[in-house]
Order: sequence, then structure tokens, then C-alpha cells
Amino acid sequence: MTSLDSILAGKYPAKAHARRVAERLEACGHGRHGIIYLEAQKTRLIEDNDEAMPFRQRRPFFYLSGCPLPDSYLIYNIGADKLTLFIPPIDPEDVIWSGLPMSVTEALRLYDVDQVLHTPEVNATLAAIASDGEGKSVAFAIEGQISEGTKFHGFLKTNTSVLKGVIEDTRVVKDMYEVALLRKANDISAKAHIAAIKASKAATNEREIEAAFIATCIANGGRDQAYHPIVACGQNGATLHYGRNDDGLADPVTKQRKSSVLIDAGAEYRTYCADITRVFPLGGKFTLESQQIYNIVLQMQTETIAMLKEGVQWEDVHAHAHRVAIKGLLGLGILRGSEDELFDKRISVAFFPHGLGHYLGMDTHDTGGNPNYADKDTMFKYLRVRGRLPAGSVITVEPGIYFCRFIIAPFLESPETNKYIDTEVLEKYWSVGGVRIEDNVHVTQHGYENLTTAPKAIEEVEVLAS
Ligand code: GLY
Ligand code: MN
Ligand code: MN
Repeated sequence: MTSLDSILAGKYPAKAHARRVAERLEACGHGRHGIIYLEAQKTRLIEDNDEAMPFRQRRPFFYLSGCPLPDSYLIYNIGADKLTLFIPPIDPEDVIWSGLPMSVTEALRLYDVDQVLHTPEVNATLAAIASDGEGKSVAFAIEGQISEGTKFHGFLKTNTSVLKGVIEDTRVVKDMYEVALLRKANDISAKAHIAAIKASKAATNEREIEAAFIATCIANGGRDQAYHPIVACGQNGATLHYGRNDDGLADPVTKQRKSSVLIDAGAEYRTYCADITRVFPLGGKFTLESQQIYNIVLQMQTETIAMLKEGVQWEDVHAHAHRVAIKGLLGLGILRGSEDELFDKRISVAFFPHGLGHYLGMDTHDTGGNPNYADKDTMFKYLRVRGRLPAGSVITVEPGIYFCRFIIAPFLESPETNKYIDTEVLEKYWSVGGVRIEDNVHVTQHGYENLTTAPKAIEEVEVLAS
């Protein structure tokens, strides 16, 4: 068994998460008593249909239970440090279709909780806790995530405004088990990226590349995608969240294969996400222009990953990526002027319009980043994480350079900015579309661990694509 498998053979540390959330509630001035009440996502039917909608577990519930079952509930008695999970009982009407549900014994074996009961016992348990003395304290729950039938009788009050935010902030720092889950999602996704690049050789449409990616994830244990895959050939790569994934790989008129493909895709493994972007040439050899841009983006990524460690200011890392982009684009002659002037005038935003990365965890764009989308500074407006990175956080590092006419046009039209861009040189680069390289990095006290193993060196990617 690898060390990764042996960590994951243990239980998801739900009890430790419940304690950390309670500590943070206390640190926010809410005392050390009361209960945390959470509900799983319900089974929901598709409108006008008797099929269930695709199920996605509620993250706050999973964080404190490790339980993927729908229609379940959780109570953490803070004062007594007791975690109780409530799972659905046998519904004889349903057994014929779905088989027997998970038993209480099995749930106790699988999940890191102190007690497992059936869901009809939620209200009696709440009443017992209230009459046991905790009733003089608060029931913390999440607004909009409380079933009509749940009764908090006997509690001093119900607070539905703080718990969600407290859990979201607690989730920023990952423990060893969560990092292992993220690594596993990355390992599966690395296999899928390799399979997708290889599949491009015989493919005629973006769809076939996407199919190879998803099939490989499922075959390796990643049944769900962390987000809709982006498979973008040629100029489609200039659209950051392109999602059509159904374009032909050859130009319909010239029949020439497009230069490259950008895949931004990652598996979800037990609710934890990978978020990886790779770019590879169709036919095995990057065009000169694609290779030049690829090298700049790789340099942006290498230098910014090297800056990572506990306490680094994320805005500084993002700004450094812009400086590397500016130097690279000056070197190619696409930009002109001095590095500082181009930086101060925010000209590189025309080519690198998004933030360098975001926290990653149970959500692809994970919680706790405190973005400021109202920022008037175009360089930082879309940065999904602001401030210093704590040890234990996991963040994506995803610089990119894009040749998107819609975004670059205003810079070319304005006399304030068009002097900085050489349109003649730029003309050669539209066909590159976009290059983004995205890895998932665990921030540590003295540095970082890159969790992403998918190949990205030009030579490796070219070999896989030929
Ligand atoms: N895959 C979405 C992103 O990279 O943010
Ligand atoms: Mn990302
Ligand atoms: Mn991505």
C-alpha cells in the first residue's frame, strides 16, 4: 500500500473538523456551548420527471461528517464534544428499486462520529440535548438549510448567520487527510490528462478528447468531474471558461489541424477537487509562436510557485507573474516600452486578465479567499484570494497568456494604451489562442509541495502528442 493509500484507508477526520469549527465559533465570541446542526443535500427529482437530479453533497455537512449520503443530518453537541450522524432508515417502498440503505453499524465503521441514529430521531435528540443543560445555549445552523420538520425547542435561540462563514474560513487550512484526497484527485486527473493528450492523435473533434479524459477519471475512481471540463482547440483557448467542447480540430476550409489544444479539467475524488490545465500541440510539435508563449507561461508559473510559503502575500505573487509576462512579451516584440511603465499602466492585463489562482478543496473555487471583485485596479479585480497564505492552504497556480480579440481590442483602440502594443507583431499570435498552465500547490511553513504530477515540460507534452 502506498503512503497515500494508507492515509486514505483511515477515516475522514470529521470529529477534528467539528472541533476546529467549534473553536473558531468560540474565537468569534460565541462561547463554547450549544450545538452545530447540519443537513445533507436532499434527494431531488428532476422537474416533471421521476428521475433524481445529479447528487452533490453539501460541503458543510460533509466537512463535519465525511458522509456522502443524501437526506442525512448531523448534530455536534459542542459542550459534550459529541458528534451524531442521522442516516435514512429502511424505506420498504424503496428497497425494491435501490436495495437496502446503509446500516447504522456500517456507518459507525465508516465515519468518524460518536453515534449513528436514524433520521426520525433528530427532533428527539435535539430535545434531549436542550433539556440536558445545553438548552441555555445556541443552536447554530445554516440559513436555508433547515428542514421544515426540524424543531429547536428549548434552545435559547437559533443562530443561522455565522456557521456557514465560520466553516468556510476553517476549510482554508487543510489537514493531512484532506491533502491526501487532493493528491489522489490529482493523481487520477494526471492519468486522464495523459490519456486525453494521447487521444488527440486520432481525434477529429474536441469531444473525443473530453471523452478520453472523463473515461479515464471514472475508470480510476473519479466518477465526478470537479467542474465542467474545458477542451478548447486553437482560438477557442482564448475563452477562459470555454465549455462547448464540440469544435472540429481542423480548420473547416483549409483542413489544416489547429495548432494546439488547452484542457482545463480535473476529477473529483470523495468530494475533493483537482483543477489542472495543460496545453499540447496537435500533431506533436508546437508552432514557433505557441512554443514562445508556452515558455513565457511556464516561466510565470515556475517563478511564482517558487515564491510560495506560509505568509506570502498572494497579491505579490500575482504581480510577479505579470512582471514575467511583461518581460516575455517585450522579448517577443508584442509589447514595447519599459517594464515598469507597462506594469504601472496595467497593459499586461490585456493578455493575462484573470487572477493567478484560487484556493482548492471541496470546491474548485474553494472558500475563504476574500476576493474583492469591486477592486478598481484591473490587475487585482479578479484575484480570488487576497491576503497572506496560511500554511496548510492549497492553492492553484494558473498563469496564462491569451490572444482574445474582445479583451485586447479596447487596448488597441485607446491612444493611452495602443502605443504599448505592436499590432504587426501581435498579428502572428492570434492563432495561438490561449496558453494556461495550472497546478495545485500545498503551501507549507517553509515552502510548498506541488500536488500535480501531470506532465508539462514541452518535450514531454510533445512526445505524448506525437
Ligand atoms: N477550472 C476553472 C479554473 O481554473 O478556475
Ligand atoms: Mn483554477
Ligand atoms: Mn482550471
